[in-house]
Parts: sequence; structure tokens; C-alpha cells
Amino acid sequence: MSPSVNRPLPGIIGTVGPLLMMLFFGCAVTPSHREAKRFETEIAPLLHQRCLKCHGIEEREAGLDLRTLRGLLRGGQSGPAIIWGKPEKSLLLKMVLKEEMPPKGPPLNANEIGLLRRWIQREIPRH
Ligand code: HEC
Repeated sequence: MSPSVNRPLPGIIGTVGPLLMMLFFGCAVTPSHREAKRFETEIAPLLHQRCLKCHGIEEREAGLDLRTLRGLLRGGQSGPAIIWGKPEKSLLLKMVLKEEMPPKGPPLNANEIGLLRRWIQREIPRH
């Protein structure tokens, strides 16, 4: 810990500072608890409904397993399915936008796409 963290800081900075540090340094290759939690509550239900038949349960098309956040980050034959902070570069979103995925049934609606986009965007990008 650097000395600046131990120095008493006024109000909000004192509270938020250490939290921000945790966010920055807590981002490793493996998903943090916070990311995993968000995935479970917001994203997994959607993927379960529309994608898992082919990417996790019956099949694992293109080597992609969308059942877990780890699976998304590992990705399939073309590489990671998502890149934190970069929705437009994330293969998953690109394929959903082009309506290539899901290949069967109606394309995802604007709300569902917005949910995915914001989720990818919100996370702190890794360097
Ligand atoms: C009916 C089966 C089916 C469903 C449902 C489905 N996929 Fe796919 N998916 C495939 C197949 C087959 C491929 C490989 C061929 C291709 O790339 O078009 C693929 C490839 C992909 C890839 C590229 C993986 C790589 O590394 O090349 C992504 C990303 C993907 N799917 C995301 C999704 C998402 C997100 C959903 C749900 C919204 C979804 N898929 C639903 C069959 C499916």
C-alpha cells in the first residue's frame, strides 16, 4: 500500500479511493467477483434463453461455451467473445448486431442488445 492510501482523506475520496484501486488492480485475466456477479444476474439469463443450446448445453459450436463468464472471456475458435470496454470490438456483440447470432429464431431486440453493449462497455478496460 502506498502512503497516500493511509493518509486520512476527506469524505468521498477516502471511501472511493481504495475501492477504485481494488477495481484497477483486481482486474486480472480471471473474472473478478463483481464481474461474475453481474454476469450471473444480467447476462446469463439472456444467453441461456437464446444461445446456450448451441454454445454450452447440447453443442459447443465454434468451441464457444457461453455458460460462464470464463467461457466468454476464453472465447471460441476466433478468440475471446468479449473485450471489456470495447463493445464494438467484441465478437459476440458484432455477431448479434449483424444478426448472424442466433442463427435460428428472431434476432435479439434493441433492449437485449443494449443490455449486452452496456455490460461490455461498463467494465474497466484492461491494458
Ligand atoms: C442454433 C445454434 C446456435 C445458436 C442458438 C447460437 N449460435 Fe453462435 N454459433 C453457432 C455456430 C454453428 C457457430 C459457428 C459458425 C459461425 O461462426 O457462423 C457459432 C459461432 C458463434 C460465435 C463465433 C465464435 C468463434 O470464436 O468463432 C459467436 C461469438 C457466437 N456464435 C455467439 C452467439 C450468441 C451470443 C448467441 C445467442 C445470442 C448464439 N451464438 C446463438 C450456432 C449457434
